[in-house]
Amino acid sequence: MNIKYLNESNFKDYDGVIFPVYEESLGVAHESLAIPFSQLKEKELFEGKKDQVHHVTIMGDKAFKDVVLVGLGKTKDVTGHVLRNAIADGFKVLKTKKVSSMGIFLDNVSEGLTCSYAIARNTVEAVVMANYTFDTYKSKEKKTFLEEVTLSFESIDDEFIEAFTEGKIIAEANLLTRELVNEPANKMYPEVLANRVIELGKAKGFEVEVFEQEAIEAMGMEAYMSVAMASDKAPKFIVMRYKGSDSEKTLGLVGKGLTYDSGGLSIKSTGGMVTMKSDMGGAAAVIGAMSAIAENKVKTNVVAVVAACENMIAGNSYKPGDIIGSMGGKNIFIGNTDAEGRLTLIDAMHYIVTKENVDAVVDIATLTGAAIHCLGTVATVAISNEDKFYGMVDHSFNKAGEKIWRMPIFDEYKEMIKHEDADLTNTAGSPGTITAGLFIGEFNGDLPWVHLDIAGSSWTSKAKHYTSKGGTGVGARSLYYLAKSYGKENA
Ligand code: BES
Ligand code: ZN
Ligand code: ZN
Repeated sequence: MNIKYLNESNFKDYDGVIFPVYEESLGVAHESLAIPFSQLKEKELFEGKKDQVHHVTIMGDKAFKDVVLVGLGKTKDVTGHVLRNAIADGFKVLKTKKVSSMGIFLDNVSEGLTCSYAIARNTVEAVVMANYTFDTYKSKEKKTFLEEVTLSFESIDDEFIEAFTEGKIIAEANLLTRELVNEPANKMYPEVLANRVIELGKAKGFEVEVFEQEAIEAMGMEAYMSVAMASDKAPKFIVMRYKGSDSEKTLGLVGKGLTYDSGGLSIKSTGGMVTMKSDMGGAAAVIGAMSAIAENKVKTNVVAVVAACENMIAGNSYKPGDIIGSMGGKNIFIGNTDAEGRLTLIDAMHYIVTKENVDAVVDIATLTGAAIHCLGTVATVAISNEDKFYGMVDHSFNKAGEKIWRMPIFDEYKEMIKHEDADLTNTAGSPGTITAGLFIGEFNGDLPWVHLDIAGSSWTSKAKHYTSKGGTGVGARSLYYLAKSYGKENA
């Protein structure tokens, strides 16, 4: 599917068209269309309300034409998110009509959303993201009809063009993240992930270094290796480096990269295990973000790290009751082998703050089932030790339309991660999402730090607007924006 923009076009040029409509301007802006708007309103079929979608077929010059009206609500309430959802809904309806060319008519959108950057970015993002389906393993090839999508807008300016390019890149990064998550664990294991990152680094322009088991052990990453060693699949410690600026500041990203989590000896139920290919959603998010950051040549220095491995069961498994070491030197009591993510993350975190010279760090992880109890699948749970840096992360998530909520850090929670026989325990009590995050925070070298638990937000059982079933790709676009604003702040 090719996407382009034109500053003048006629709806007659396309098989299918999308018209976003405000409540106030129902029918007015589209007089040329032979659509009985007043009748639609009377029957409450389409009134331009937010989330309303109505399909009509009209007679074109030679054949029927599919028209989809999408509601934007009131002009005063419109946001980029409203537009993105509306376009995605319209796009999906038109795709089912098997059109080969699609025109999206954006002229009257600027009655409410005045910024051409927001119009272009949200529209192109909606189209790219709504077009995704995970069908790699459907052996019957699906016929594709849609060849070209055109954004028609009368006032195309530099901002529109910049946003079009950027929106396309970050939407593709979101799809890359979804695809990495959706690949099953028998196809996507540490070696495959590492090779994919090497390819991406070459294609997009970032440096990649992969540490093998020997090097991982030599660095003293006992916590990471304790998790990884029961698997037949070798662990890969993946480091991505992107230099986009002469500034001395570097942003660090750490993603949880469990390509599969069986729970280990504290084995999960089949129901709990069946979606655990998604336990590398944090890694996928940082990989997606790095791809977009490099492709769009963001003026920031960024290093991302993924300690990729599988949590499996074998004679050499780590065991509940064990006390293990870590690269940072702290000893950890293992209360439950299913709390493995934090063990891989502390070695990755210690590595990035001591070896890669980062100045602020975000870790992103499908860390705790408790995160789903906190905010459901709707939002990412965050904790942070610093308000200013958290503010940047919060702003970046909002810009991407990805919901985030910060939890408190109370002293009582810090007590819970201590253990009487060791320095720390991997199974502190409730609130499990906060104590798991604080465990990782022990290794942040006192840098500005944000921990993101995406156990809920990275996966969905229902497609909605521009998201598809399975991986949501959460984090990729938000972390891209974070890198961009971090670079501006530290130029
Ligand atoms: N990968 C899981 C967390 C998870 C659960 C992600 C559901 C996505 C959906 C993690 O490794 C885990 O199993 N955590 C345990 C920790 C507990 C044993 C302290 C959990 O949340 O139950
Ligand atoms: Zn687990
Ligand atoms: Zn896990």
